[in-house]
Amino acid sequence: MKAIALQRYLPPELPESLFDTDLPMPSPGPHDILVRVEATAINPLDNRVRRPKDKVEEQPRVLGWDASGVVLSAGAAVTRFRPGDSVYYAGELGRQGSFAEFQLVDERLAARKPESLNHAEAAALPLTALTAWSALFARMKVPRDPAANAGKRILIIGAAGGVGSMAVQFAARVAGLEVIATASRPASADWVLALGASHVIDHRKDIPAQMAQAGFRYADYVLILSDTDTYYPAAVQAVAPEGTIGTVVEATKPIDWAALWDKSATLVWEMVFTRNEYTPERSHLIGEMLAEVAAQVDAGLVRSTMTEHVTPLNAGTLRAALQRMAEGRSIGKTVLSGFAP
Ligand SMILES: NC(=O)c1ccc[n+]([C@@H]2O[C@H](COP(=O)([O-])OP(=O)(O)OC[C@H]3O[C@@H](n4cnc5c(N)ncnc54)[C@H](OP(=O)(O)O)[C@@H]3O)[C@@H](O)[C@H]2O)c1
Repeated sequence: MKAIALQRYLPPELPESLFDTDLPMPSPGPHDILVRVEATAINPLDNRVRRPKDKVEEQPRVLGWDASGVVLSAGAAVTRFRPGDSVYYAGELGRQGSFAEFQLVDERLAARKPESLNHAEAAALPLTALTAWSALFARMKVPRDPAANAGKRILIIGAAGGVGSMAVQFAARVAGLEVIATASRPASADWVLALGASHVIDHRKDIPAQMAQAGFRYADYVLILSDTDTYYPAAVQAVAPEGTIGTVVEATKPIDWAALWDKSATLVWEMVFTRNEYTPERSHLIGEMLAEVAAQVDAGLVRSTMTEHVTPLNAGTLRAALQRMAEGRSIGKTVLSGFAP
């Protein structure tokens, strides 16, 4: 099968850092489905994992944590899917990824693709949807019931990227929260307003001061989707007494935990692979979340966040797309499909 892989972790501008290759067709273990990948998408995680280091992989390693495709065959213990089903999923950190014609995934991590989306539109969603859904509803414990959220608001920092584009929709359209989104450019501001934000402020300026100017003293929830080291102090100022701050970005410095004392506020982390890495017996929760997201999409509450569709898919087009994403100016998601013959 055709795939795009790395073997050495080379500077990303070098053509050899990601190369086109042919790999043997994988065969499913008991819980696996074998999927023909119809479309994939890129994430900052791809750039993070391929950062230069001395390690050399024994076999070519395939990255990619977003896929939409069709089930070709299934392992003996698979109960939820059959050949011909259309599925979407993010997959696992430690297995071969979605930048390939075919991929194995544990059935518990996948769900049926939203029926109202084509494969490219669906491939934009899985990793970012899981991150945003889990951050809001599992970790920050935002009620899913809009009636319970009447009069409540959330501040989402870094709202126009892949994760933010899902978080804004889930917060506004599923939970019924008033969403204050941060965006620093006219195009990213327009995008978050179109997804359901009520107000936009600029993360490159003083966030609490802009909130005060707009008439908001506090936000019940604050979700950080960019540098935690930078935005934690603003989040502490912005969060309401007894409110909750969530972040999906690791801190590189010690967090000032004591700063939350005065407001009796809570800080929670979201790392999307925690469940299947540490508690594989709970992996089914991942597939269930994706099924819930698909239901929200098919109900018309949530839309695909695809803003760019690159074709064909090869090492050159993938490297270029990853390079553009590294500039930190992506709006929504970049999807790739169609291996060149
Ligand atoms: N914990 C997890 O499991 C998990 C999962 C997925 C992603 N993540 C992490 O979450 C972060 C966001 O991921 P993503 O996929 O949404 O990334 P992305 O799509 O690359 O985000 C791009 C957006 O970031 C905004 N941005 C750029 N610089 C910023 C800054 N200094 N402050 C605030 N916003 C800024 C930009 O908005 P403007 O153009 O308006 O400035 C742009 O729209 C990344 O760090 C990623 O590694 C974590």
